[in-house]
Amino acid sequence: MKGNSIITAAKEVLSLNNSAFIIDLDKFEHNIKSMFSAFNSHYPNIEIGYSYKTNYAPSVCSCAHANGCWAEVVSEMEVDFALHNLPESDLNKIIYNGPVKSFKSIKSVIEAGGIINIDHIKDLTEIKKILDGCNDQKLIVNLGIRLNFEYQENLSRFGFSIDDIEEVLNSISSSSRYNFIGFHVHLPFRSIESFEFRIESLISVLERFKSFQISYLNIGGGFFGQLPDELLQTMKIDGVPSYSDYAKIICGLLTKYFQKSRQNKLPTLFLEPGSSLIADAVFFVSKIHTIKSSGGRNYMVSYAARHLITPTNKNILLPSTVYSFSESEKDIVYHGDDTYHITGYTCIESDIISKVSGYFNPDLSYFIIIPNVGSYSIVMASDFILPQPSIFQIKGGVLKENRRILTSEEIYKTFNS
Ligand SMILES: Cc1ncc(COP(=O)(O)O)c(C=O)c1O
Repeated sequence: MKGNSIITAAKEVLSLNNSAFIIDLDKFEHNIKSMFSAFNSHYPNIEIGYSYKTNYAPSVCSCAHANGCWAEVVSEMEVDFALHNLPESDLNKIIYNGPVKSFKSIKSVIEAGGIINIDHIKDLTEIKKILDGCNDQKLIVNLGIRLNFEYQENLSRFGFSIDDIEEVLNSISSSSRYNFIGFHVHLPFRSIESFEFRIESLISVLERFKSFQISYLNIGGGFFGQLPDELLQTMKIDGVPSYSDYAKIICGLLTKYFQKSRQNKLPTLFLEPGSSLIADAVFFVSKIHTIKSSGGRNYMVSYAARHLITPTNKNILLPSTVYSFSESEKDIVYHGDDTYHITGYTCIESDIISKVSGYFNPDLSYFIIIPNVGSYSIVMASDFILPQPSIFQIKGGVLKENRRILTSEEIYKTFNS
């Protein structure tokens, strides 16, 4: 979406709403295509499992699937969402991760023909119960094993330790109904080094369990997406790797290993990006409720809030731009010496979202646009003090409401009286 279109869309949305999320589906689609293209130029078999937890708005997930992504899900609710969003012919394109998988959801994924990455033995016990209780002897389960690695003295609470894998592999190979396909690893680190570590660790496991053929290697998510300079400065990061930088290292290491290893067919490499695909495809737009000064500081009070747009980071000030409703678009960027803190609508002292410079006339009406708010925002937002804002999508210049704001009464009625 061009710069001006988000401004026009924001004005339209804010004519009826105090604030809203706007999802730029064209940008999201562009990010998916860029990631596929970067990895496909270094490795032949690439699949992307879009991480539902990051932003499971149906418009986002359907767009991911329309662009060839699988659903990476981690709960019964997300399995249900995936079965709604995936086209009928692609219901098998589910990767089921996570530490709490219900019996019902495991059964649904097995029946759909998806992949289950087991995190602990209880996953396997539940799968066995499902297969034992099923009359269809042809029903099989595609199994991956999530591996547990300590990275730079950071322990992980997920997956199987290397020393426990042998036992798991032996019990899996005892039945032809378990189709063991390979391994999964995810770490909450975004550096190239952390991905090098993932690949090297996977290779060490493949070397140790050479007799097991694999067709699937899943290296999880956690890639950086594109971050504007202002956000990099705020986050105190010098620069971030591009998709291509990641692809070169990851695919280079894998290709080198498989060229000299026993396996002649390269396994499919699965990636599970969330934030890197959706973060910069979502904007938060909000009217400025009032401009005021207190204790020697200028404030612009907005209808945004930290718990809506950046619930996982309580400290950083987000880049944002203030526009006027009343002036023409060419005049709307202000320059000046005054600093204004943009605050949320909540009563939390620390609910300060952004800082802008300029002169703003308290008699005029303004609005703000906050970019890069697509990840862990909509899915973690709550009706704290005000109902969650509406969600809009924009695609090909066409604006459409994805979810309307609930009324106080509708929220009230979700409780039993
Ligand atoms: C297993 C797994 N895959 C993928 C992701 C997505 O990570 P990100 O949104 O950082 O790309 C996560 C996030 O926690 C995860 O736990």
